[in-house]
Amino acid sequence: MLDEETKRRLIQTGRAFMKGRRDDDPYEAEFVSDQEQRLPQPPLVKAAMRGQDARTALPMDFEHLEKKDDLVALIRERHSSRVFTGEALTLLQLSFLLWATQGVKDIRGRAYATLRTVPCGGARHEFETYLLIRSVEGLAAGAYHYLPMEHALEFLGPVEQIEEKISSSLCGQRWAAKASVVFYWSMVSYRAEWRYGIYAHRVALIDAGHVGQNLYLACTGLGLGTCGIGAFSHELCSSLFDLDGEEEYMVYTAPVGTVSEKDAPKEKAFYKFVEDQGL
Ligand SMILES: Cc1cc2nc3c(=O)[nH]c(=O)nc-3n(C[C@H](O)[C@H](O)[C@H](O)COP(=O)(O)O)c2cc1C
Repeated sequence: MLDEETKRRLIQTGRAFMKGRRDDDPYEAEFVSDQEQRLPQPPLVKAAMRGQDARTALPMDFEHLEKKDDLVALIRERHSSRVFTGEALTLLQLSFLLWATQGVKDIRGRAYATLRTVPCGGARHEFETYLLIRSVEGLAAGAYHYLPMEHALEFLGPVEQIEEKISSSLCGQRWAAKASVVFYWSMVSYRAEWRYGIYAHRVALIDAGHVGQNLYLACTGLGLGTCGIGAFSHELCSSLFDLDGEEEYMVYTAPVGTVSEKDAPKEKAFYKFVEDQGL
């Protein structure tokens, strides 16, 4: 167990991180970002990882989706779901969830920034979206990477024992294995560090919250369930999607699945589990 002095010091480090730029920050006066030094801007999105033949264009006819539109009800009804019935999502549903969380609406300036469906500090949009798909109509099960500029998915490859991989990547959370699809968001660190340097990481965590909330609201609208997940294995997630774990690393994940009102009592039973696990 950590001694009290070490614990106090580490807590202080965490608090200093949370406070971000402050007048008493010893680095504030000296910090000059790479952007201010006129170093080249990193790409707005990660390049495709596979060839054109691995690509599936995603449908955008969201007017054909069966969904709730009452904003007050959506906000009120949003909750975490951990009991999934295991059915397939349609491609249009998945497409809507990807658009709602990271969809590109416009480009600012001459490729200076993407404008998306979520806000983001300095519009750096430092996240990439990866998926483990267990059951989505029209798509093979396996690992995928979202291409937000094209609104397309690229198939990275099949994943053996995908249900087991889902659970183990989420630190053994077995309930998630019945998700139809799991969202994994990585941070491409330099995309934010180029402007915010040592202050980039705190801003990125706030950015991730917006992405997560849009997923929750979009799922609520479609009658699907999701749960934000902070307990995941960096090593396993990196190896699933071939990330180096240093320049690009996982920051947030969320399983999405079909749900049934019949399972409300089972959902309630999870409250105790969540409390016991400190989630
Ligand atoms: C950043 C973050 C990380 C979370 N991590 C987990 C997790 O690893 N496992 C889990 O079962 N729930 C996780 N949750 C869900 C919370 O437990 C849940 O939001 C909280 O209990 C409140 O319940 P509600 O979302 O239904 O309002 C996480 C939520 C957030 C926002």
